[in-house]
Amino acid sequence: MKFSKEIIQTQDGSFTIRINDLKETYHSKSGAITESNFVYIEAGLNYWFTQHSDSQCRVLELGYGTGLMTYLSFLECEKKLQTVDYVSLEAYPLKEEQLKSLEYTPFFEDLDPKINFDIFSCLDWEMAQKLSDHFSLTKHKIRFEEFEANRLFDLIYYDAFGSHAQAELWEPQWMEKCFRLLNSGGVWVSYCAKGSVRRGLEEAGFQVSRLPGPPGKREMLRAVKP
Ligand SMILES: C[S@@+](CC[C@H](N)C(=O)[O-])C[C@H]1O[C@@H](n2cnc3c(N)ncnc32)[C@H](O)[C@@H]1O
Repeated sequence: MKFSKEIIQTQDGSFTIRINDLKETYHSKSGAITESNFVYIEAGLNYWFTQHSDSQCRVLELGYGTGLMTYLSFLECEKKLQTVDYVSLEAYPLKEEQLKSLEYTPFFEDLDPKINFDIFSCLDWEMAQKLSDHFSLTKHKIRFEEFEANRLFDLIYYDAFGSHAQAELWEPQWMEKCFRLLNSGGVWVSYCAKGSVRRGLEEAGFQVSRLPGPPGKREMLRAVKP
């Protein structure tokens, strides 16, 4: 995507990237870190671990983007000693300079992380990186549409751009693909609350819940594969 991008500050003080041509941001303007924690860490990762406390969780993220959600997942696993094998897909990787200019590192200094955000952002693609006893990360430069996996996942963070910017990724066929990629009991979570997406998930076979959304959004969706 060769669109012009600018860095903007969101309401919780953290930064995100705005694509002017698409009128779209990588995270909510109400708070990049706040939204990512609320939707994906709390309603996704922590929810999954409340249901499967002793297991390892295999996470698939659609849209590595800035890496913020991946990094928050890493920090959460370090804090809770939860074991995660994390695979992130990105069709249009951002440049390392763009990631650096988001200046996320100071937001996490108090946690004294083993790896800071700037170093995390420079990890190689296409190879599994064991970042700690609890967290392995593999980033793939690939479109979700073409991605195939030889092992199923437990949790999908579905973080495509909004449907006004990228309607094709919210069509029922991709909800069916998510269903196929998950283990039984697996969870799909997204900031999206659109009725057509909810119906696509239900048609694919998911049990879907509408949950209260993060600041600035009334609702979001979580779906479980029975
Ligand atoms: C809302 S942003 C994701 C933000 C990201 N999770 C983060 O924490 O920064 C959507 C991302 O999906 C990527 N993307 C767009 N189309 C894609 C596709 N077909 N397959 C995989 N990634 C795609 C975009 O380049 C963008 O990085």
